[in-house]
Amino acid sequence: PPVDAMVLLQDFEEWGERVLTGTAWAYYRSAADSENTFTENRDAFRRYWLRPRILRKVGSGSTRTSFVGIETESPFFISPAAMAKLGHPLGELNITRAAGRLGLVQGISANASCGLDELMEARVDGQKVIYQIYLNKDRKASEALLRKVEQLKPAAVMFTVDVAWQSKRTLDVRAKHIPVDVNADTSTPRSKAPLGVSEAIGGYQDSNLSWDDIDFIRKHISAPIIVKGVQSIQDVEMCIQAGVQGVLLSNHGGRSCDYAPAPIDILYEMRCLQPDLFNHIDVMIDGGIRTGADVVKALALGAKAVGIGRPILYANGTHGQEGVERVCEILQEEITNTMRNTGATKISELVPEMCGPAGPWVG
Ligand code: FNR
Repeated sequence: PPVDAMVLLQDFEEWGERVLTGTAWAYYRSAADSENTFTENRDAFRRYWLRPRILRKVGSGSTRTSFVGIETESPFFISPAAMAKLGHPLGELNITRAAGRLGLVQGISANASCGLDELMEARVDGQKVIYQIYLNKDRKASEALLRKVEQLKPAAVMFTVDVAWQSKRTLDVRAKHIPVDVNADTSTPRSKAPLGVSEAIGGYQDSNLSWDDIDFIRKHISAPIIVKGVQSIQDVEMCIQAGVQGVLLSNHGGRSCDYAPAPIDILYEMRCLQPDLFNHIDVMIDGGIRTGADVVKALALGAKAVGIGRPILYANGTHGQEGVERVCEILQEEITNTMRNTGATKISELVPEMCGPAGPWVG
């Protein structure tokens, strides 16, 4: 269908399932084990409701904001996800171009299927990108990559820590296909065994990561560091102690540890138990964000921005760059609508009193 016929982010998922190759659909959609966390990421948002305020002159306003010092037109960014070429021959290039047109921040995956140089060159003036890294078992290889990343001056670096160990990505394992010629920067030799895509591209990642690795990264990188995949208040505190600028509460879209909690629940727990932490580090969340209301809830509870994963890959697969732009425009419109109808004209007016668990609440 024409891209204008897509009205919700979910529409891209439905069409993605129909038109993507079996390998691409299985890899993109897959989640760990029995997929409880994957399902919970979405379901959890239904437990939080908004408390709109009225009579607040909402005729004009803006969604501009910033996180870890990065300016953006809208409080969502594109979470780094591997292998966009499985869905469309131009791969991540479509995402870079769409983000450039709309003034949005793209997270580029360590396992992107386009080269980092190619994507950096495709940026428009002033366009900000975040580079995501996995550390290699071979630290010499990681050092070389970090030196290259430092030279390219990303606006931030995301260190992904929620795939400490492999997981079984059920649909992907069932599909059993091997990608060819996909990983431009980590240039890892690929196994020829019949693996799922996840297993085939992730083999180089270190399973002995520790808090010392944050220092290792900081030695090479001057940009702000965001730790991606934080799943408890204790680890937010440790990230503050480690001196990083941001945490992304995430469970990798339910792809890593099944029964890890939904990020919106951790955010709410932090808001209730340790609200002071929000003054010491920028907190972001991703996982299951599919509507503008989801974004507004997270921001009201204290997130600086949120990340979108699968909808971008699905839209890239169904409609290429136009699809990615449409996803972002739909979300942007929904965010504006929800904000205004909640009584907020700018991001700083979204406050904790505007969001809480279902049912009557005090606060
Ligand atoms: C991911 N994600 C991910 N994260 C990361 O840090 N590096 C990566 O290479 C990838 N690759 C990847 C591939 C695919 C197909 C998916 C679906 C996800 C996780 C991603 O950044 C993000 O955390 C989740 O996708 C967010 O959940 P939703 O929005 O997909 O529900």
